[in-house]
Amino acid sequence: MPKKIFLIAAARPNFMKVAPLWRAMAARPDGLQPLLIHTGQHYDHNMSDVFFEDLGLPVPHVHLGVGGGSHAQQTAGVMVKFEELCLQERPDMVVVVGDVNATMATSITAAKLHIPVAHVEAGLRSRDMTMPEEVNRLLTDAIADLLFTPSRDADDNLLAEGVAPGRIKLVGNIMIDSLVGSVEKARRLDTCARFGLTAGRFGVMTLHRPANVDDPDTLARILDVLVGMDIPLVFPVHPRTRAVMSQHDLGAKCGLTGSLIILADPMGYYEFMNLVVHAQLIITDSGGLQEEATWLGIPCLTLRPNTERPVTISEGTNELATVASLAEQTAIILAGNWKKGRVPDLWDGRTAPRIVEEIEQFLTKR
Ligand code: UD1
Repeated sequence: MPKKIFLIAAARPNFMKVAPLWRAMAARPDGLQPLLIHTGQHYDHNMSDVFFEDLGLPVPHVHLGVGGGSHAQQTAGVMVKFEELCLQERPDMVVVVGDVNATMATSITAAKLHIPVAHVEAGLRSRDMTMPEEVNRLLTDAIADLLFTPSRDADDNLLAEGVAPGRIKLVGNIMIDSLVGSVEKARRLDTCARFGLTAGRFGVMTLHRPANVDDPDTLARILDVLVGMDIPLVFPVHPRTRAVMSQHDLGAKCGLTGSLIILADPMGYYEFMNLVVHAQLIITDSGGLQEEATWLGIPCLTLRPNTERPVTISEGTNELATVASLAEQTAIILAGNWKKGRVPDLWDGRTAPRIVEEIEQFLTKR
């Protein structure tokens, strides 16, 4: 009998991480039976369904339909429904990815039912407890049986927290598996041209961290700087950010109309990656985009005081930025004087098969 594996999908960044795992598991039908569980944290077509279509993911086995809400509402809602599902279906393992609320909620639920948990993208630490993701990362790593890490710094973090070395497996970056498999197709789309942009002569920006977008004054200060930049910036606006912008009329207040900023709706994976691969620079507060920029060798400014992905700075093309430093850093990039960076070890597009092999070994030994 193949082992039943629940793969937890929930929010936009997770779909790119779950897709290569699903494929690698589905390729071993004698050993593993992967079942996608969508918690519903992201639910708009262009925040969820479009990624299933782009990434060739099947319709989820179960959709918990929990939706948005406060942290407690999301977490509790997922735990109650996921517990019922686990009791009904008794999976042999629950595999969670990343650091969103559903990652933590499903891990805790499974651990209390004595179902083994594997965490993919374990060990990342920003040491910033004001980030909800840092709380999710710490709690998930504390109880997961298998901790799949993307880089050596993540191993060091876990070891420093007293995690037994046997639980830690350095496997590389799962999101890069999706990128490797998609980059050529994405490169050939015409998204860039549809926005009237010339390859290599525009930037991509994304902003959605609560610390940057929830306070309208903070968001306005960021937009004021970006409006003053001398390069077109495509800005697919996250629903969280759009809500604050429209509620406080920041488009008009910050002079976005008539500026070089091009506002857009959130996009599918291929469309967005077409913009990213052709961009001259990236300005973001996303986690995944720092990694994608590093792999692609595109200069990246991360508008945050810290990053849980330090390898993108020490080895890649990423640097932290503040509102005060953005303009000067952008000028260095546009002058062609940015660091070149290199691709970190094991970010090679083969992380999913390494994980699947470890999972099979783990389940065989039990
Ligand atoms: C979540 C993750 C964050 C990740 C981000 C990527 C947590 C704590 N945060 O943040 O780590 O980087 O996803 O997008 O898990 N909304 C919609 N439609 C949707 C999804 C969300 O309108 O499809 C709106 C809702 O009003 C929701 C708000 O956006 O309340 C925020 O969504 P939520 O999932 O709570 O947090 P994100 O900011 O998306």
